[in-house]
Amino acid sequence: MRPLIRTARCCLRARERAMATFSVAPAAISSSTAARPLSSLRPHGRLLLPCFLHAAPAPAGARPLRTSAAAASAVEVGGVKIAREDVVKEDDPTNNVPDTIFSKIGLQLHRRDNHPLGILKNTIYDYFDKNFAGQFDKFDDLCPVVAVKQNFDDVLVPADHVSRSYNDTYYVDGQTVLRCHTSAHQAELLRDGHTHFLVTGDVYRRDSIDSTHYPVFHQMEGFRVFSPDDWSGSGMDGTAYAAADLKKTLEGLARHLFGAVEMRWVDTYFPFTNPSFELEIYFQDDWLEVLGCGVTEQEILKRNGRTDHVAWAFGLGLERLAMVLFDIPDIRLFWSNDKRFTSQFPPCYKDMSFWINDEFTENNLCEVVRGIAGDLVEEVKLIDNFTNKKGMTSHCYRIAYRSMERSLTDEEINDLQWNVREVVKSKLKVELR
Ligand code: DAH
Repeated sequence: MRPLIRTARCCLRARERAMATFSVAPAAISSSTAARPLSSLRPHGRLLLPCFLHAAPAPAGARPLRTSAAAASAVEVGGVKIAREDVVKEDDPTNNVPDTIFSKIGLQLHRRDNHPLGILKNTIYDYFDKNFAGQFDKFDDLCPVVAVKQNFDDVLVPADHVSRSYNDTYYVDGQTVLRCHTSAHQAELLRDGHTHFLVTGDVYRRDSIDSTHYPVFHQMEGFRVFSPDDWSGSGMDGTAYAAADLKKTLEGLARHLFGAVEMRWVDTYFPFTNPSFELEIYFQDDWLEVLGCGVTEQEILKRNGRTDHVAWAFGLGLERLAMVLFDIPDIRLFWSNDKRFTSQFPPCYKDMSFWINDEFTENNLCEVVRGIAGDLVEEVKLIDNFTNKKGMTSHCYRIAYRSMERSLTDEEINDLQWNVREVVKSKLKVELR
């Protein structure tokens, strides 16, 4: 998330940040991780071909999918039609949206499954689907043109906050902005009755230029409401309960993305949460801010039909994480239309667990898998291993399937995996779990 990226810049909490007391908690975790983290894809160098990105310019003639406002005078987002003249008003002093910004509206990079931002979004979805099956409602198509009220007032951003200035935010008119964060949707979704949700979207901020900043970027917001029944038996008050759940949930997410990294919680300030925290991880020899979060201010819940409830919320910047995870050196590359960047073929993972016998070896397993999947198998990796009281040992392997030439269909991979399971069972005489 930009504010988290832009430590020293104007952001929703820039001013406060200067005054905030940063109390650093001890590293929270470093335990083992069962799932293969996204970060483990990097060494393959295949996901985004970092060498290519560093070395070669886009081929001559390569064009963005839609280069400019000139190419599209209107776009549609979530069923809302946005015409150029709706957001670019050159003669209106209350408007500061240029054509270059209009040209980005509706591109929705986060909705392209093979784009690094789409891959990251889907990986985060996977985490929530796996751990909170069916609980979180997902929104990634909400219109980025929002009322000032939604963007600021509804999330308690003070009237004199720097982020409200024309210098920091794109105003369509005095009452309307291009959202500068996905938190702009918290209140409306709460009012609509949602209690668990993830909102992904493009957000817009006026800013200076460098390799990690771009005036349009992408965030994901998470929100979860608790009712008194949830915490009544816990011995904690609602706020403590929500804070503990928040930390546990986000530590799990960070492990899902980065593997078994060291983490720490840093106290901070956001207008919409109290207490507020940042999660940092130790990755590639440095502490990296991953996201901002906190326990939602009661006032927000009260105003939106959830008196007596508590909630947690988090916001994370997708570009920042994707740049680190995929080794992307320049934020502009996210907007590149070079097929080598936008259309790489994603891997597909299948797990299988079984009780091994004395004869079992990993090489034998690999032989079986390769015999069935050929070069479509990219990796076979032991991700879990334990022995029960009876002395039986269980292994869980994760198989990564990926073609270098084409996208594999679900059906095809399911067939392969089904075959692999059958042959592993019959040939290796192991007991599938
Ligand atoms: N909206 C914040 C920003 O862009 C990020 C954020 C921080 C979102 C904490 C949250 C939160 O929901 O709880 O700076």
